[in-house]
Amino acid sequence: MKAQVTILLFGKGGQLGWELQRSLAPLGKVVALDRHSVGLCGDFTNLAGLAATVAAVRPDVIVNAAAHTAVDKAESEPELARTINALAPGVLAEAAQRIGACLVHYSTDYVFDGSGGQPWKETDAPAPLNVYGATKLEGEQRIAAACPNHLIFRTSWVYAAHGGNFAKTMLRLAKERERLTVIDDQVGAPTGADLLADVTAHAIRSVLQQPQLAGLYHLVADGHTSWHGYAQFVIEHARRVGVELKTAADAIEPVPTSAFPTPATRPYNSRLDTGKLQGAFGLTLPAWQQGVERMLTEIL
Ligand SMILES: NC(=O)c1ccc[n+]([C@@H]2O[C@H](COP(=O)([O-])OP(=O)(O)OC[C@H]3O[C@@H](n4cnc5c(N)ncnc54)[C@H](OP(=O)(O)O)[C@@H]3O)[C@@H](O)[C@H]2O)c1
Repeated sequence: MKAQVTILLFGKGGQLGWELQRSLAPLGKVVALDRHSVGLCGDFTNLAGLAATVAAVRPDVIVNAAAHTAVDKAESEPELARTINALAPGVLAEAAQRIGACLVHYSTDYVFDGSGGQPWKETDAPAPLNVYGATKLEGEQRIAAACPNHLIFRTSWVYAAHGGNFAKTMLRLAKERERLTVIDDQVGAPTGADLLADVTAHAIRSVLQQPQLAGLYHLVADGHTSWHGYAQFVIEHARRVGVELKTAADAIEPVPTSAFPTPATRPYNSRLDTGKLQGAFGLTLPAWQQGVERMLTEIL
């Protein structure tokens, strides 16, 4: 590994981007941008600007935490979602390949159709159900075609203490109402942006020394639950530590997805098999409850 590694981080202000600013710092010099950055372009709707930024910084590693993540909104603005989630990552991949950099990128469980009950493996066939999933899949494909030296991490149900999240919404509603209804037929693993960022830093160190580790990996916390189970866990924890709530954990009613119609169809089975990642990088992924408890301790 070079003595001084330069990392170019896009999307520095998002849930993951914020945590990456912390976790990447010990690896070398981090140039962190967002869409409003001046001097260097970090706007994913400006494709020529992104290529120029890579050429100017000449990083060893590019980390892309920017994305169009508004899953329902993507249904009504598919071109914008495609530009940000597919075309811009493709441009970054071509620019990375030109200078011999490694491109690190994130994708989603939404590339799958959510059928069956088994965790999805990297070798399973994707079949996205919505615009967001389709554009994220195209982004993966463009990266794989243009820049073999990549790490793509598919993850799910990302939360962070920084910004809004599902747990905060449940806590707010539980202060206002005696009963809540939460979907119980979508299953996945709540995954902390801090865990994603820490694993990313480990993986970058490894791939700089062993380029053959480049590739596509599933990266989520261990175990799984439904949104209903997640809500119950949050409310039980908050009550246990003395937060005054109107809703008891057993007053959260499980309902099917059909109870909350949304513009974008969501997969039922979002479980991801992380065996490939844990084996390749020698890592152990913690149970989802551990990270959620940490986040709750920070916000309560
Ligand atoms: N959140 C999830 O549950 C989830 C699940 C699976 C996979 N993922 C993937 O994980 C990665 C990180 O997601 P996250 O949860 O950190 O998302 P996030 O908090 O929504 O952050 C996305 C970032 O992208 C930026 N962005 C949006 N449009 C942009 C543009 N035109 N130019 C530059 N930046 C732009 C946003 O900036 P502004 O704040 O300025 O809009 C924001 O900082 C993404 O690749 C996402 O697809 C997320």
